[in-house]
Amino acid sequence: MNNLSRKLIAGNWKMNLVRQDAQALVAEIIGMFEDEETRDIKIAIIPSFVHIGLLSQQVAGFTRIGIGAQDCSEFESGAFTGEVSAAMIKSAGASYVLVGHSERRLYHNETNQQISFKIDQAIKNDLTPIFCFGESLEQRNSSSHLETVENQITESVFHLSTSDIVKCKFAYEPVWAIGTGVTAKPDQVQEMHTFIRSLIANKYSSSIAEQITILYGGSCNDQNAKELFSLDDVDGGLIGGASLKSRSFVNIIKSIPN
Ligand code: PGA
Repeated sequence: MNNLSRKLIAGNWKMNLVRQDAQALVAEIIGMFEDEETRDIKIAIIPSFVHIGLLSQQVAGFTRIGIGAQDCSEFESGAFTGEVSAAMIKSAGASYVLVGHSERRLYHNETNQQISFKIDQAIKNDLTPIFCFGESLEQRNSSSHLETVENQITESVFHLSTSDIVKCKFAYEPVWAIGTGVTAKPDQVQEMHTFIRSLIANKYSSSIAEQITILYGGSCNDQNAKELFSLDDVDGGLIGGASLKSRSFVNIIKSIPN
C-alpha cells in the first residue's frame, strides 16, 4: 500500500560527527531540500545526544524534519549516572527517539522488558519512538526469524493501548544486514513486513495496522532504496552509514515512490 502519511526516512548517525560537521551536514541536507523536489515525506535526523539542542534549532521552520535521540533511559529521573531521560531529550528539542537498536541490545545487553519501559517513557514525554528489532544471522539460518521478531514485538510494545501503538514507528533491522553491506533480499523484507503488519492487525485491528509505519534498516543506500521502498509494506528506511553523506541521504528520501 502506498500511503504517503506513513512514510518516514530516519538517519541514524550513531557515534559520528563532531559539532561543526553535524551542523554542516544538516545545512547541506536543508539546502538540497530547498532546491529539489522531495515531496511531503517526514525526515528524522538522529545525531548524538550532545548535538540535539543545536540541530533542533537549525531545523526549526522545516516542519517535515525532526531531530531524534539514539536512546533514552528506561527511568524517569534520578541517580543514573550517564543516562539521559526522555523528558531531557524532549526539552532539548527532539521529537523522535530510537529504542532497542541492535547495537544497544548487543553492547548494553538491553532486554525486551527494558525496551518496553523506554517506549513508555518516550510516549509519556511526547516523543515518537522508533522501535528497532530484528533477528541475528543464526536465527535467520535456523528459520526462527519470524518467531524472534514476534517475541520482540510482543514483549516490547503489545502492552500499549490502541491510542499509543499508533504513535510508534516500527523499524525491522536484521542484525546481519546492519553495517555489513549485505541488504536483506526483497522477498525476505516483504515476508517480514507483511508478517509484522499481520501481528499488529491480530492484536489491534486491520485499520490500526494500516496506519503504522514499518521501516526497513540494514545497509540501505541510494542504490538499493528504490527497490526496497517499492515493496508493499515498506514505508521508508532507517539509514545508518548512508545518512552521513547529504547526497546519498537526500537520494534515499527521493527513492520513496509516488
Ligand atoms: P546501516 O545501519 O545502514 O549502516 O547498515 C542501519 C542502522 O543501524 O540503523
